[in-house]
Amino acid sequence: MILKSKDVLGLEGMSAEEIRGVLEIAFRFRAVFDRPVRSVPIMRGRTVVNFFHEPSTRTRISFELAEKRLSADIVNFSAATSSFKKGETLRDTAENLAAMKIDMLVIRHSSPGSARYLANVLDCSVINAGDGAHEHPTQGLLDIMTMRQRLGDLRGKKITIIGDIAHSRVARSNIWGLTKLGAEVTLCGPPTMVPGVLERMGVRVEYDLRRAVAEADVLNVLRIQLERGAGKTFPGNREYHRMYGITNEVVRSLKPEAFILHPGPMNRDVEIAGEVADGPRQVILDQVANGVAVRMALIYLLSGGDPGALGSSN
Ligand code: CP
Repeated sequence: MILKSKDVLGLEGMSAEEIRGVLEIAFRFRAVFDRPVRSVPIMRGRTVVNFFHEPSTRTRISFELAEKRLSADIVNFSAATSSFKKGETLRDTAENLAAMKIDMLVIRHSSPGSARYLANVLDCSVINAGDGAHEHPTQGLLDIMTMRQRLGDLRGKKITIIGDIAHSRVARSNIWGLTKLGAEVTLCGPPTMVPGVLERMGVRVEYDLRRAVAEADVLNVLRIQLERGAGKTFPGNREYHRMYGITNEVVRSLKPEAFILHPGPMNRDVEIAGEVADGPRQVILDQVANGVAVRMALIYLLSGGDPGALGSSN
């Protein structure tokens, strides 16, 4: 069995073996994307609820596509049009959904720990699609998959994560996953966004952008999370761009084979220049494509799917 838990709540709680196992299955599903028929009937008769309490484009649609490509039945829940508006609690709402005999709940919520809270009270599987500033495990896995696609084994590879680390669930999931796989992780951004205490997670903190990127194999450029108060931690977008923005000048200082990720949505010309976001070094849409494969792999494995039944990714 690749996954030890009934739930996927974060990469902190997953072993390197589990992460490698999920990615192996994701690469096999990725191979299906190039076929004329991209659906497989392995989740027929199973029901997944997408329980989103925060805005999302990539994660919500990627989960929905993953579920559809596995032939699952899908229900999309929107907090804005639910009895949440009448004061029903998160737990009561989730227990009502579970009483309708669902097999899996995918939750995005602004509160850290909300996915774990529901996983503890529900019998069905829970997948964390982002809980506040805590973790975003499927984003972490798709980022790692995109790095492995180009670099293979990540042991000893130098990954620099740049930006608003303090508010970032993506950064946390990347740090847990990448360090477990043996990568050397550097964090970079203004001191107000990159607390030195993060070194306790086994990473290097570097406040000078040029030094942080000089030896990097990969840059993972994070969004400035204005909705979580990040705008108060630096003087303005122009200053941020001048000090920490990834511009063509920064790209010219990278190793020739280094490449650039961004989880989206992007603030163009703040954390990343538009010309870099559209340029030859970025792999942003590869990340998006890999996201569907990662989510298919997790849903398949949590449903008791047999990894051996999928054949090889080659
Ligand atoms: N990367 C990511 O989580 O994007 P969305 O907020 O659009 O889902």
